Amino acid sequence: MNVGHKDVPAVGKLIFINNEFVSSTSGKLFSVSNPATEENIADIEEGDKADVDKAVAAAKGALEFGSPWQSMDASKRGRLLDKLAELMERDKAYIASLEVINSGKTYREAFFVDVLSSVRVLRYFAGFADKISGKTIPIDGEYFCYTRPEPVGVIGQIIPWNFPIPMMVYKIAPALACGNTVVLKPAEQTPLSALYLASLIKEAGFPPGVVNIVPGFGPTAGAAIASHPDISKVCFTGSVEVGRQVMTMGAQSNLKRLNLELGGKSPIVVFEDSDMDYTIEKCHHALFFNAGQCCMAGSRTYVQEDIYDEFVQRSVNRANTRIVGDPLDPATESGPQLDEAQFKKILAIIESGVTEGATLHCGGQRHGDRGYYIKPTVFSDVTEDMRIGRDEIFGPVQCIMKFKTLDEVIAKANSSDYGIAAAIFTSDIDKIMLFSSRVKAGTVWVNCYNWLTPQTSFGGVKQSGMGRELGECAIREYTEVKTVTMKAPAKV
Ligand code: NAI
Ligand code: MG
Repeated sequence: MNVGHKDVPAVGKLIFINNEFVSSTSGKLFSVSNPATEENIADIEEGDKADVDKAVAAAKGALEFGSPWQSMDASKRGRLLDKLAELMERDKAYIASLEVINSGKTYREAFFVDVLSSVRVLRYFAGFADKISGKTIPIDGEYFCYTRPEPVGVIGQIIPWNFPIPMMVYKIAPALACGNTVVLKPAEQTPLSALYLASLIKEAGFPPGVVNIVPGFGPTAGAAIASHPDISKVCFTGSVEVGRQVMTMGAQSNLKRLNLELGGKSPIVVFEDSDMDYTIEKCHHALFFNAGQCCMAGSRTYVQEDIYDEFVQRSVNRANTRIVGDPLDPATESGPQLDEAQFKKILAIIESGVTEGATLHCGGQRHGDRGYYIKPTVFSDVTEDMRIGRDEIFGPVQCIMKFKTLDEVIAKANSSDYGIAAAIFTSDIDKIMLFSSRVKAGTVWVNCYNWLTPQTSFGGVKQSGMGRELGECAIREYTEVKTVTMKAPAKV
């Protein structure tokens, strides 16, 4: 398959190193499929350690003193990122369609969320490129002191399949604004959009070696990135299990800097004074967005006891009207799950919910007979000791729990090992302030959910990870501060 752009040759030469599409060293291919039809859509060159070594050598070379990238004005780096944004916008319908057939997400979400929000992220960091400045510091003695925020070096980026384009852009945009170079591995299930963006990176005019993309599998290509001695930092989004392995490999190789964005089990707390129609719709979207395949999914909905029964019934009604089907149809609200592994994992967790005594109101089964579709599922009477109340499900399964008081629900919200996001729905400002200060989470939404913008930093506490993406914090993640102290002729 040719992924559409004139600079992208037919499959067989799709690893992107030094601005060229090259064959894998091993000659191996792997297949990617469309989750809506279960059909193979492309065979992709499979990168492994040998290819990662070549990509890292290219990225290291692009950073050398005097190279086009190292010697480029910061403002020019910003203009290149702007150009990339412009090219993505030019090709937005194509990129969104490619993402739909590879990931199963709906066209509506792929277009407006994945592609257009990524364009905004590129523009945000484009503007940052020449505004990353150090300080002069009034130090003791007859000295002059200043700091320089410098690039960290070669950055390894390992991304997942649930938001392939935003995950790539959240990572490359700040890394490039700060003057680093990148070796990125897309998820093995969804490499197509990253390879297409590679052609746009070349077209935008980034020098060779600045961004290198090696599709392949986790234990081979991913592990080679995590343990490479010439990679200075790894930024990873995915499961807690692999995050832990990446941390270990980073420590054992060369003490890599790390940014981990892992899973979640985010609580949404609904008080009886909230606007019921609005809140039900927000809680529904918080969970079912992207077919539930979202690290920040609102996957524990805590509802105050006096409105609990009505809230459950109306949430079930809403789930029953959710339009599940062909992700290319603009009316569709949910497409299939990513693949058979995710599909089976979700159905097994649903089964555990029934066995452990939660009440299943709707869904719980496959939708249709082709594609990895699961019917929107709602459970009530869920508790934190059940697997559905504790583990990340990453699927269309809403779990509604009951609470009485603010103190009780804060304790329950914080009982999780995760801490990526939390939300509260109420008009009581005292409850809002107490909840938002005491809940353990990287992001708190008040009377809203899923509102992520380029300007707001995003990341987790506890086992949801470390470090932040987006916003000004991302600039700190991709720079090292150097202190320069000069002997002065007198006190200056
Ligand atoms: P995963 O953590 O295995 O995969 C994420 C990325 O890590 C992929 O690019 C993969 O190739 C890579 N990887 C896998 N093993 C690796 C290794 N040993 N060394 C280096 N890189 C490696 O996630 P998977 O298996 O796709 O999904 C499993 C569960 O993880 C999901 O059901 C979900 O609960 C969670 N997950 C969370 C995400 C998030 O946004 N925080 C994204 C994807 C998955
Ligand atoms: Mg895995």
